[in-house]
Amino acid sequence: MEGICYKNLIISLVVILASSLTTHSAIEKPYQEASTVFIRTSCSSTTYPRLCYASLVKHADLIQTDRVLLTGAALNVTLASAKSTSAMMSTLAKSRGLQPREVAAMKDCVEVLGDSVDELRRSIDEMNHLKPSNFELTMGDVQTWVSAALTDESTCTDGFQGSAATTEDANNDIKSTVRGRVVQVAQLTSNALALINQLANSHA
Ligand SMILES: *[C@@H]1O[C@H](CO)[C@@H](O)[C@H](O)[C@H]1NC(C)=O
Repeated sequence: MEGICYKNLIISLVVILASSLTTHSAIEKPYQEASTVFIRTSCSSTTYPRLCYASLVKHADLIQTDRVLLTGAALNVTLASAKSTSAMMSTLAKSRGLQPREVAAMKDCVEVLGDSVDELRRSIDEMNHLKPSNFELTMGDVQTWVSAALTDESTCTDGFQGSAATTEDANNDIKSTVRGRVVQVAQLTSNALALINQLANSHA
């Protein structure tokens, strides 16, 4: 009995010593690989898998292979993008030479993006309190809010759809930049919603 315990202790010490001698990257690599595969697999069922993977792989260390953390990271990335796009549009709305119609469209976008920022914040906050006992209720709320955020963002991209009809329009650069950014926010939101649905279904 004592012999076995002693042997276990030696083994533990050897493992600890070996771990401390090995470089960090060598220890972390298998985890990172597992996480990378997990992120790629989870993203493969989203509508924009490449954007999904590229936006989340930076957070692989945090996500590991945890669905809740993956969903939280996707919401974080989406929120950051919605916030910075909204700030950029507030600035661009003050650009010289914009048509009143364009200024109005930008202001409308800033407003709906503000709504979607609120909805994403609320979702992240509620996800932070996710427990087995409130799982279905929480996931239902988060699905509702993120869907609403996606609808708000679509309103904004619609507002810019027809406005770049003339190629001589000096504001086409601004408008295509804005459209591109908002489209990306909407794509990130769509991906986050797909991951939320995956998480919701994983407990069904
Ligand atoms: C989301 O962002 C918050 C605040 O920056 C951070 O504390 C948290 O770890 C992030 N969560 C995930 C899952 O990335």
